Amino acid sequence: MSAASARVFFALWPEDSLRTILADLAREVARETRGRPPAAGNEHLTLAFLGEQPSGRIVTLRELAGNVGGERFTLTLDEIGCFRRSGIAWLGSSARQSDLLALQGRLALALRDDGFPVDERPYAPHLTLARQIRAPFHRSLPAPIVWDVSSFALVASELGRKGSTYHILAEWSLGAR
Ligand code: 2AM
Repeated sequence: MSAASARVFFALWPEDSLRTILADLAREVARETRGRPPAAGNEHLTLAFLGEQPSGRIVTLRELAGNVGGERFTLTLDEIGCFRRSGIAWLGSSARQSDLLALQGRLALALRDDGFPVDERPYAPHLTLARQIRAPFHRSLPAPIVWDVSSFALVASELGRKGSTYHILAEWSLGAR
C-alpha cells in the first residue's frame, strides 16, 4: 500500500469471540468445498467496496462515515450458500436483515452524495467463508450465529502474493438503543 492511496472498503468487523466461531466455520466449509478459508483475522462482512482511493478521498470517507450514525443491532446469520461463478462460499441470512440494510443504505447514500463509486447491483450481504471452492455448498445452520453489531469500520486491503492483508483505518460506534 503506498501512502498516496489505498484500496478500501467499509465492513462489519467481528470481535474476538465471534471471529473464533467464524474462523472455525470457515475452516469447516473450506474443507467441505475444497476451497481456501480467509486468512486468520480477515473474517468480515462488507458494507461497501470502494477500491483504490487517494489519501485525500480517504479523509472524506472518514468524515462522511462519522455522520452515518445509527443504533446498534443484532444480525442473525443462519445460512451458508455460494456464488458459483466467483467460487465463494458465504455465510448469510435466510431472512431480510432490515437493520443491516438500513445501515448499508445510509452509508451508500452518503457515498453517492460525495461522488464515490457504489455498486449499482442490489446489496447482497455475505461473509466470505471460502474462496476458490470446487464444490457447490448450501446449508442452514442448526443454531444461527447472532452478531451484536455495535460498530462499523473503514478497512484498507493490501494485495500480496499470499492473499489480502487488511488494516482497520477507523471504526465508528453505533449508539445504544
Ligand atoms: P468478497 O468477500 O465477496 O470477495 C474486500 O475485498 C471485500 O470487499 C471483500 O469482502 C469483497 O467481497 C468485497 N468486495 C465487493 N466488491 C468487490 C470488488 N469489486 N472487488 C473486490 N472486493 C470486493
